[in-house]
Amino acid sequence: MLGASGALGQALVPLLTERGATVILCGRQEAALRSLADGQDAHVVAGDLATLACRRRVYQIADQLGRLDAMAVLTGEASFGAFLATSDRRLVATVTANLAIPMLAVKSLLPLMVRRGRGRICLVSSVWAITPAAGEVAYSAAKAGLTGFGLGLARELGPTQIRVNILAPAAFPSRMLARLSPRELDELAARQGGKLLSTSRVARRVLDLLDPDLTFSGRLIRIGRIRQVED
Ligand SMILES: NC(=O)c1ccc[n+]([C@@H]2O[C@H](COP(=O)([O-])OP(=O)(O)OC[C@H]3O[C@@H](n4cnc5c(N)ncnc54)[C@H](OP(=O)(O)O)[C@@H]3O)[C@@H](O)[C@H]2O)c1
Repeated sequence: MLGASGALGQALVPLLTERGATVILCGRQEAALRSLADGQDAHVVAGDLATLACRRRVYQIADQLGRLDAMAVLTGEASFGAFLATSDRRLVATVTANLAIPMLAVKSLLPLMVRRGRGRICLVSSVWAITPAAGEVAYSAAKAGLTGFGLGLARELGPTQIRVNILAPAAFPSRMLARLSPRELDELAARQGGKLLSTSRVARRVLDLLDPDLTFSGRLIRIGRIRQVED
């Protein structure tokens, strides 16, 4: 699981370990990963997935385990603010975290699935990829790019048993929303019909897309809806 230390990862890990999965947990916060792994059949890779060394470490562990059945790609980073006020550095960092790193990570690990001719990949995009947001233009663009990546990869892997699907959730509680004021959070919830999604609901949907019996590939699955401000 890439991005296991975040809110969604913390909800998803127990769902997987309860089902007897051996998990590889990757993120940058080692303490959070260790506490998730505690008492579970879990391996921790604490590091930055932008680096080849970190991606290689995940690959090596999966290779030693003998197979990689599924990949949940949860890595991402929020970026709020008007587009013109976004620094060049922030813009590149947003595209890197939400698009380049997921692509690089999948590229590093995919050979393990290709070797067996099967696997499940769930990329977590965002509802903003479908309904792009003012004030989150770079994030919306990067998540739309991630969606395009997943749909294209699903086609490319079409003849295999490797299924690639993309989840586009509306907002759910996580530190991604920590920079929003209580008023902004209320406004966001109102645009989603009065409340944020529950993180466990999103985690269960990711779990569905990692199922060995999954039959479809190349789907963009939205969870929850968000109303545009001007609607
Ligand atoms: N929360 C929402 O409202 C919402 C809505 C729609 C979509 N999403 C998407 O859902 C996914 C999970 O979000 P979340 O709310 O759980 O966010 P989160 O709590 O901020 O978690 C993000 C995860 O990505 C990891 N990560 C980011 N950059 C990384 C890097 N360079 N190397 C390794 N790990 C990296 C973080 O690791 P560390 O914590 O160790 O740094 C963390 O595990 C994200 O892709 C997000 O864009 C979130």
